[in-house]
Amino acid sequence: MKTTYPHQLTTVLAIETSCDETACAIVQRKPQSDYAVVSSEVTATSLQKHTQTQGIVPEVAAREQLKSMLPVITQTLENHSLDEVDAVAVTVKPGLIGSLLVGVETARTLSYILNKPIVPVNHIEAHPYANFVRPSQISDIKSPIPQFPLLSWVISGGHTELYLMKSHQEIVYLGGTVDDAAGECFDKCARMLGFDYPGGPHIDRLANQFLPPISYRLRPKLPRPLLHSGDYNLSFSGLKTAFARLHDNIQTDSQYPDSVHQFLAHELQSAISDVIKKKTQQALTEFPAVKSIIISGGAAANTGIRAALNQLTTTNPSLTTFFPLLSWCTDNATMIGAYALFHPELQQDWQTITAFPTR
Ligand code: KG4
Ligand code: ZN
Repeated sequence: MKTTYPHQLTTVLAIETSCDETACAIVQRKPQSDYAVVSSEVTATSLQKHTQTQGIVPEVAAREQLKSMLPVITQTLENHSLDEVDAVAVTVKPGLIGSLLVGVETARTLSYILNKPIVPVNHIEAHPYANFVRPSQISDIKSPIPQFPLLSWVISGGHTELYLMKSHQEIVYLGGTVDDAAGECFDKCARMLGFDYPGGPHIDRLANQFLPPISYRLRPKLPRPLLHSGDYNLSFSGLKTAFARLHDNIQTDSQYPDSVHQFLAHELQSAISDVIKKKTQQALTEFPAVKSIIISGGAAANTGIRAALNQLTTTNPSLTTFFPLLSWCTDNATMIGAYALFHPELQQDWQTITAFPTR
């Protein structure tokens, strides 16, 4: 006989371990409310352990997560009791399989012991939910919440994708990168400038230090890949190569001797932001009913991308852009909990969940 679950979830304990983070959160939603509230969240990261190897070593990450998982949950529950929890939400895909299994098996055990259902969550689908959650101290403030239909960008180290969300249950994939993600492009180009992972914040900082001279628009620039492709495809692999070439050639350019790295960072950030803005404009033309634009993922922290999307609202006052708090751009358990609260239909028994490395 099929188990029946409550239609509404009010409080979930969420777990996220898809990459280097070990994260847990208690997230709540009042019945019919259009946003969730986080009342406790803790994140541990093993990023420091991976700087020497210049990339995440999956086994090292998983072993660190095994050590951190229970202390992180204990700390999250400092002012809460497990009795309050209606369900356990956990990232089941995509991600590093060893890392995912730490979270999934912990969630399965909690679900079994507590006799509460599990909500299995797709990490990429959960990122946008950083825009549907508020910190508990401002939960009563009447600040706006994204309105449907909306355009949703997920821009991270592994993904750059655009979705049309007609409701929480009707989500249409419009397009995305055909090769590298924007975050990966930021990271690889930052590496050429001598910065460790994650390189995106370094590019952002340098780009903002660059003071474009009057002649800026006339100078040779990086390409804006697939800008006029007419579809929602993006490509950042060639941009990386073009950046490497510009980087090599510009070393001998005496025009910007003191600010070569700032110029390069500014140029890269502008190229990526221009493409994202153009694809968004295209979607706004195709779907004129769109009321909000939301952005999520690590690179959603980027000030150039944020500014480019904000420009779209100046010509269309009925449109609002939403950006998550910086701590909710990168991987966190709060977005996993928020997603689960808006998708109670996904509840399952502890026996049936499985982790997948891919989506
Ligand atoms: O979502 P996330 O934490 O992990 C993945 O699932 O990939 O995203 C990490 C990515 C990295 O590529 C990092 O360089 C990028 O987000 N990132 C940024 C900024 N902050 C983080 N990229 C550009 N500008 C930023 N300010
Ligand atoms: Zn992520």
